Order: sequence, then structure tokens, then C-alpha cells
Amino acid sequence: MQQRPIGVFDSGLGGLTVARALIDQLPNESITYIGDTANGPYGPRSQDDVRRLALAALDTLVEQDVKMLVIACNTASAAMFDVAHERYEQGMGIPVVEVIQPAVRAAIRATRTGAIGVIGTVGTIGSHAYQRAFATAGIHHVDAEACPPFVDFVESGVTTGDDVLAAAREHLEPLRSAGIDTLVLGCTHYPLLAGAIGYVMGPDVRLISSAEETASDVYRRLSDTGLLAPPTTQATYAFEATTEAQEPFLRLARRFLGPEVTHVEFTQTGV
Ligand code: SIN
Repeated sequence: MQQRPIGVFDSGLGGLTVARALIDQLPNESITYIGDTANGPYGPRSQDDVRRLALAALDTLVEQDVKMLVIACNTASAAMFDVAHERYEQGMGIPVVEVIQPAVRAAIRATRTGAIGVIGTVGTIGSHAYQRAFATAGIHHVDAEACPPFVDFVESGVTTGDDVLAAAREHLEPLRSAGIDTLVLGCTHYPLLAGAIGYVMGPDVRLISSAEETASDVYRRLSDTGLLAPPTTQATYAFEATTEAQEPFLRLARRFLGPEVTHVEFTQTGV
């Protein structure tokens, strides 16, 4: 039971930032990762569409006998965490962890002035999931901006250069003017653009990625449910993508996550 893998899911490559943090914090845990590359990015899609696609991917992980599900995608967390919680955690006893609450917690811990900003996809920002999560924690104003081109940059392996910098300047300007001291990277792809984002926002603004805090949530949930792998366990890692051409995903996944990515399998999620 404890040796079964953790299932991690994203629309593409961004969830690898969460997978990296999981490997670092939980070295005995095996991971099965699905990047829904055939249907990503999810950001411009409707909430119904994201819910349908994400449930299909999570069902595929459940069929592969994972012991926990991690929705390593803000757009999907915003659109369907409640549904996933009901279906997998309440319905099947499989704990589900998402990425929005951990980021909110980390931002509240980090801010000195209470002036917090959040950036994400059109879907995430439009859903107001972050605004609601901050309000529940007592913070009733956050400056939120959608940054539509960022995910496409990452998915095509472009993380530096003039185009990234120009897009960062354009989309982050309202947040710079708002004088925030803490910026939530509300998309798991965005930590891969942290160089340009940090440069544009300046050295006094703390960037918050949900990856490490989400890994801490996973640790906590595994401990609380008696599902932690024993320390003698040799972890294994499987990476799956829903597009048939594996080479681009493999190349970028190895660059973004590291040598743990040895190969990528094609998987179909039944959508
Ligand atoms: C996307 O699929 O557009 C981005 C994933 C995320 O929101 O983390």
C-alpha cells in the first residue's frame, strides 16, 4: 500500500516544478506523472472543459493504482478541486492535494506589508479561486493579473530572452505600480520563468511558488493517513504524456526536472 506511487497531474510541463519538490522532500516516494500535452494549455479553456479533461487524467492515474493524487495545475485546481475531492477522496479514499491553498499560505507567511499580487492563467484568475482563498484567510484585496503568453513560452522551452522579458514587462506592470511586496506565481509553469519575473518585479518583491509548500502538504497528508513509503523504499519515477511525439516532452522534462526523467510513455486519458 505505502509503496504505491503518488499520481501527479498537470496540463503539460509546469507540474514538474511540483514533482521536483516532491522528489526533494520525499525521496522514498515513487511518482507517476501525467502531462496532458494533447489538451494543454488549460488556461484559455472553459471551466467545464478543464473539469472534464482533468477528471479523465486523474481517472487514468487512479487506474494505475496511485495512493494519492496531486493536482499540480492551478487552472485545474481552480476549476475542479471540489469535484476531485468528492470523487476520489470521499468516494474512493484516495487523498487529493491541490496547489492553491499551499501558495496562499506561503504568501501570507512571506508578506511584510500585506500587499500581495497573484498571476495566473486566464482561467485561474477569472475563476477568482485565489481571491476567495485569500479572503477566507482574512486578506480581502489582492492584485490579480492573467499572463496568457507565459505557459506557451514554457511549453516551447523558451524561458529567457527578449520576448519573455517584453511579455513580463507588459503583464506585470500593473502589479509593479500597485506596490506589492509578495507575488504568487499562480501557475505551476511560472517558476520556470522566475528569472524574468523576478527581474521585472525587482529584488524587494518575494516570489511565491506553490511547489515546496505543496510538497509539505503531501508529506503531511501521507503521514496523517499512514501512507508514507518506508525509508528503505527505492523510489521509481514514471512520466507520461498524452501526445504521441515523446521527444520534445522528454527533452524539456529532463531540463526542467532533472535526470530522474529517463523516458516518457504515451498515455491516453479517455477523452
Ligand atoms: C495551463 O494549462 O494553462 C497552465 C497550468 C496551470 O495553471 O498551472
